[in-house]
Amino acid sequence: MPAQTQPAHVNSASANSVRPLPFEPRRVPLSATLAVNEAIARKRREGVRVLPLGFGEAGIPIHPALARELGAAAGRGGYGPVAGSAALRGAAAGYWSRRGLPTDPSAVVAGPGSKPLLYALLAALGGDVVVPSPSWVSYAAQASLAGAEPIRVATPPGEGGVPSPALLADAVVRARARGRDVRAVVVTLPDNPTGTIASEDAVRRLCAVAREQDLVIISDEIYRDLVHDPARTAPSPARHAPERTVVTTALSKSLAAGGWRLGVARLPDGPFGRALRDSVLGVASEIWSSAPAPMQHAAAYAFAEPPELVERVDRSRRLHAAVAAAVADRFTAAGARVPRPEGAFYVYPDFGPLRDALADNHGVRTADDLTGLLLERYGVGVLPGSSFGDAPSALRMRVAPSLLYGETDEQRLTALASPAPEALPWIADALDRLSEVLADLVETATAGQPVPA
Ligand SMILES: Cc1ncc(COP(=O)(O)O)c(C=O)c1O
Repeated sequence: MPAQTQPAHVNSASANSVRPLPFEPRRVPLSATLAVNEAIARKRREGVRVLPLGFGEAGIPIHPALARELGAAAGRGGYGPVAGSAALRGAAAGYWSRRGLPTDPSAVVAGPGSKPLLYALLAALGGDVVVPSPSWVSYAAQASLAGAEPIRVATPPGEGGVPSPALLADAVVRARARGRDVRAVVVTLPDNPTGTIASEDAVRRLCAVAREQDLVIISDEIYRDLVHDPARTAPSPARHAPERTVVTTALSKSLAAGGWRLGVARLPDGPFGRALRDSVLGVASEIWSSAPAPMQHAAAYAFAEPPELVERVDRSRRLHAAVAAAVADRFTAAGARVPRPEGAFYVYPDFGPLRDALADNHGVRTADDLTGLLLERYGVGVLPGSSFGDAPSALRMRVAPSLLYGETDEQRLTALASPAPEALPWIADALDRLSEVLADLVETATAGQPVPA
């Protein structure tokens, strides 16, 4: 019977008589960083003045030269090699070689962002993985999705991103004693969420433990070019344990091209590294086939580091440094303990010193209570430390100031060019609003009091 002659009730009647499925889909919550964006958008729709400090996006426009390269390659519709084009792999090899990590193009694998590459690595390694605590939300979530156990090991204060070497050895021994098959440890240099950089010594000691305990090191160096102090470089475990370290990076942060979805991994040399690369390629071939060809072309240009892009990365590094420092100062002035931001674009204040006042004034006892209050009462969107693996009772939160750089490309470019971006009216205004909110939060009396405009 042709569809249009079917009685209107047939579909709904048969739907009613069909037995519901006897299982629920596996629960995979939306990544906390993406969820906070939606919560902030909801507050905006409600007409609330918001401070969007939740989402880790670089907040600066695409450089026109990158857009030009992308446009020039728009006609490339073929899949291309799974590992990525020879031009991209060669350029990425050059990028790492210039940073003291000599790299053969055959060791490079490209993917649609470093996130899927990290997942492919976990799937290819096939065992449990140690993740720093706190650490970027997706490591633990990806490990669980891949059927592995994320084993959390605390990072020492001020040395985010690298699990304490002493605690690492102990955690691995204990996990193995209960039958876990621990095969890797993830590090983030510089770190998200704390905005700090572990010392060379901590990285060297971590590498020694990785050797003793037969661990692969996955070094996420996506913020490597955003170290605030131009005289400093972030250490890489690939210098100390090249035979077992995989390094990942992407265009997402230093060139603010997260939406372009292009990342690269550098696999170790030697028989193990080559076998791991083949497995990663196998996973890639079954999931994404190849990174998007036009993006690969633009990324080859970017990893060759032409002067205009080097200048752009340098300016964005200065912008992130200035605004992160200003935000850290506002939290410090309100009485929070704040590790000095050293890289990337994050601040990680600890409201521990204000625990009693927050409990008495607002009934706040956990980081979730605190960030929930900040969002609902003040329109300030930040992420609780618990999203990054902190204990729920630790009153820490991740603050990402980069969406304050401007609401238009014109404002963002002005911020990039400014020697004192924190003094630009729209950024200064947001910083003052932050101070006002924090003062109200820590100084005033009971919850339910009217919110200042
Ligand atoms: C530490 C870290 N690694 C990886 C990523 C994801 O990067 P990509 O856009 O390359 O998938 C992010 C993005 O927030 C990040 O902060």
